[in-house]
Amino acid sequence: MSEEKRSPLWGGRFGKSPAEAFQRINASIPFDVRLAPYDIRGSIAHARMLGERGILDREEAEVLVRGLEEVMSEFERGEFSWSIEDEDVHTAVERRLRELVGDVALKLHTGRSRNDQVALDLHLFCRDAAEEMIRGLLEAMAALVEVAEREKDTMLPGYTHLQRAQPILLPHHLLAHFWAFSRDLRRLEAAREAAGRSPLGAAALGGTPHRIDPGLTARELGMEPLLNSLDAVSERDFALDLLYACAVLGVHLSRLGEEWVLWTSQEFAFATLDDAYSSGSSIMPQKKNPDAYELMRGKAGRLIGDLNALLVVLKGLPLGYSKDLQEDKEPIFDAVDSVLAMLRVLPEMLRTARFDAGRMQEAAGGFALATELADFLAARGVPFREAHRVVGGIVRRCEERGLSLQELTPEELASFHAALGEFPGHLLTPRGSVENKSSRGSTSPTSVEEQLGRARELLQQKTAR
Ligand code: ARG
Repeated sequence: MSEEKRSPLWGGRFGKSPAEAFQRINASIPFDVRLAPYDIRGSIAHARMLGERGILDREEAEVLVRGLEEVMSEFERGEFSWSIEDEDVHTAVERRLRELVGDVALKLHTGRSRNDQVALDLHLFCRDAAEEMIRGLLEAMAALVEVAEREKDTMLPGYTHLQRAQPILLPHHLLAHFWAFSRDLRRLEAAREAAGRSPLGAAALGGTPHRIDPGLTARELGMEPLLNSLDAVSERDFALDLLYACAVLGVHLSRLGEEWVLWTSQEFAFATLDDAYSSGSSIMPQKKNPDAYELMRGKAGRLIGDLNALLVVLKGLPLGYSKDLQEDKEPIFDAVDSVLAMLRVLPEMLRTARFDAGRMQEAAGGFALATELADFLAARGVPFREAHRVVGGIVRRCEERGLSLQELTPEELASFHAALGEFPGHLLTPRGSVENKSSRGSTSPTSVEEQLGRARELLQQKTAR
């Protein structure tokens, strides 16, 4: 960081240097410095194109490219330094390049503006971030499948209104989260594609008189070239797409997190987390808390906020660059960092947790099997509404007498409806109930096996690339 005050790169028409308080609100370098690798990559593509097109001499372009590569390795070694006077990452890179290669660095910005440059940097960042989140999500999905395979026979109650409803297989439950994640995967893939159109060549907003070739820079970066220079510097749809994908994934993670908070409570006591993924209390020695799952529940808030923040920044903004757009970066960084932190902890936390299958199965029995009685009557021609009423009466009588459904004799059952005399008792067990399901996508072992097959196929197809 330099000692004496430098004048900003746009300082030509100004009689004074910027006030410190202004400099502080204006500068993005404290947070956008992490875009440096993308900024440098974009500048290398731009410099090569300037050389190709004869806008710069080949030798000049060569010097710029080698200098930029040196800046890149300084950054990678953690030796890239900046000061608030650099204003933003674009300026900092150019300043360092000039220190390394001299005044030829002043030619790099020919046919370019920070407006298309920053949009490009963000595209590249979002594309990489989407890819990294996709890889992390696939890991979590693989862990769900592993646990589902290991816990093939474990059952638990499915809930509605958080009241025990019907028994389901634990793999069915885990796969429900898997399929939600598979849709997140699609959203992340779509966001990755959306980040694939390079804005480079838009310059400030209307293009440039220099005979640049945006197709060339785009190709070097593995992107498609811009269609409209004004749109290219104005739009942040690709970032919104990524933030939306993060927000929905965050909501999914929060729902999974909430279930684990419940499951690991003493009231449910369905599961215990590995010690390596739990924390204790500073005062109550007995405590073992599911902090990571609580954080998953909590982080959904900021992910929704991040999406909202950028939507509101963009709302009503006229086309062209406005400094408001500088506010796009922190929500994006925050969302990506939050999602990656969660995806890094989730797979192993799932794999190492233990279930109390006995307790879960017990909770899945009892009145949670009442629908079996109604379905049995309906299958014998009793209108379902009528069957529902009859079984409701049975439940009420059992509750009055302190009995379970399973304790009723065939004669007692028949006293409520003649057809119930032949009711097969095994349907009043969680296992009998899940095996009795036959509809597509149900919790039956056959359906769950089929789902597992599809899930494995999806993972294979997505990881074999
Ligand atoms: N730091 C700015 C940003 O993050 C870079 C673009 C500046 N462009 C401008 N016309 N002032 O958006």
